[in-house]
Amino acid sequence: MNEFDALPHGGLIRKMWAVEASRYREHLLRLDEASRRNRFGGAVSDEFLVGYGDLALGIDTVIHGFFVNGTMRGAGELRPIGSPISHEAEAAFSIEKPWQSHGVGSALLARTLLAARNRGIKFLHLACLADNERMQQLARKFGAELTFDFGSVVGEVQAPRPTPLSVMREIVADSHGFATAMLDVQTRLLKSAPAPSP
Ligand SMILES: CC(C)(COP(=O)(O)OP(=O)(O)OC[C@H]1O[C@@H](n2cnc3c(N)ncnc32)[C@H](O)[C@@H]1OP(=O)(O)O)[C@@H](O)C(=O)NCCC(=O)NCCS
Repeated sequence: MNEFDALPHGGLIRKMWAVEASRYREHLLRLDEASRRNRFGGAVSDEFLVGYGDLALGIDTVIHGFFVNGTMRGAGELRPIGSPISHEAEAAFSIEKPWQSHGVGSALLARTLLAARNRGIKFLHLACLADNERMQQLARKFGAELTFDFGSVVGEVQAPRPTPLSVMREIVADSHGFATAMLDVQTRLLKSAPAPSP
């Protein structure tokens, strides 16, 4: 499993920028009731999601977004927790219902694991409700990199040390995302520019 696995047609994964909080917020607000419950461990209101989306893109947090035609449809969040020497982080995933079960979660987990490894994270907490079969299946697919104990929902990232290759894989993946993000911004600017007079 790697970050170049096939995504649904027209989809791409890239890291989010701090200025993109509104896109993350809008994605979270589009989650249906069951996805919200699975993502946040219980029913959450729109107000909660607005507040969460505004604060989520903190300095230490790495969020990978899944985009289709410029709209964010999925997210993988990696957030360090505890003291820096504990090398722990939590990860969480959210994919809008029409894009679930199409391999997006697998691709986002692969990118999140790579980012975790390159940041020296050894323990990854995955908050997952006991009845969330799909998330548990997804985690099991990464059994070689992540050991799981669903009772305590802590995964140990294997080979936590970054290697030149793992750093290079993240840089290559980011450079693809950067070029696309630039195109996205340019397209938006062009669309908003007034049409030239004849
Ligand atoms: C859980 C979630 C992240 C999984 O992502 P996804 O894109 O739907 O999952 P994938 O398509 O990559 O499938 C991963 C594995 O789950 C299993 N799976 C897929 N669809 C499934 C379904 N409907 N029921 C049970 N298992 C399923 C399969 O084993 C699959 O691997 P495979 O296709 O190689 O066999 C996504 O469904 C989601 O965002 N759900 C709502 C929020 C949530 O539950 N977040 C997790 C808590 S943080």
